[in-house]
Amino acid sequence: MIRLKRESVVRRGAWSVYRWTQWALDWTLSRVARGGWARLGLGVVVLSLLAGCAAQPERTVTDLYGPLPGNIENGRAVLEDYGCGSCHTIPGVPGANSLVGPPLNGWAERSFIAGKLPNEPEHLEQWVRFPQAIEPGTAMPNMDVTEEDAVDMVAYLFSLRRDLTWHDRTRNFLGIAR
Ligand code: HEC
Repeated sequence: MIRLKRESVVRRGAWSVYRWTQWALDWTLSRVARGGWARLGLGVVVLSLLAGCAAQPERTVTDLYGPLPGNIENGRAVLEDYGCGSCHTIPGVPGANSLVGPPLNGWAERSFIAGKLPNEPEHLEQWVRFPQAIEPGTAMPNMDVTEEDAVDMVAYLFSLRRDLTWHDRTRNFLGIAR
């Protein structure tokens, strides 16, 4: 069995990238030389549109609903006070790292609440206050959250987006698994 050394694999990789780049350059220059300016221009436009789409931040529910009435900072504080973190992982809330219930990271990008209600601010407020009324028998208890506190919690949760690095975004865009 032939075993490729890591170094030689890396060198081969670099070599083929170099050859491809060279090929692409040759191709482009030959087009331009044959008077393919219009097509080249079109290519540039298409490529920049694609790049623009890739760079677009994802639309989130908060974008759709505008700024929410609650107080984000107070939301963080009351999420901690009510002990939501004893069941949920919530970024930015001290001690909220449990996995009894679903993690609430990237909340603004979720489509459903408890797999049932469309993820809209008013629905979330109802869920946080009355989960047992919405889904009788769910493991999440009613916790006597006041309306005011719920509104602040909603503002905080909707401020959470996925924290993607440009590495992750590129991988997602190209459809490469981790
Ligand atoms: C005893 C554990 C427990 C506590 C405490 C708790 N939850 Fe939950 N929570 C759950 C479980 C379990 C679910 C999943 C319910 C379902 O899908 O039926 C859930 C679901 C949720 C969801 C929907 C998650 C999703 O992915 O759809 C949100 C939002 C939520 N909880 C917020 C809160 C907030 C805010 C508090 C504090 C006021 C809180 N929870 C307290 C257990 C808990």
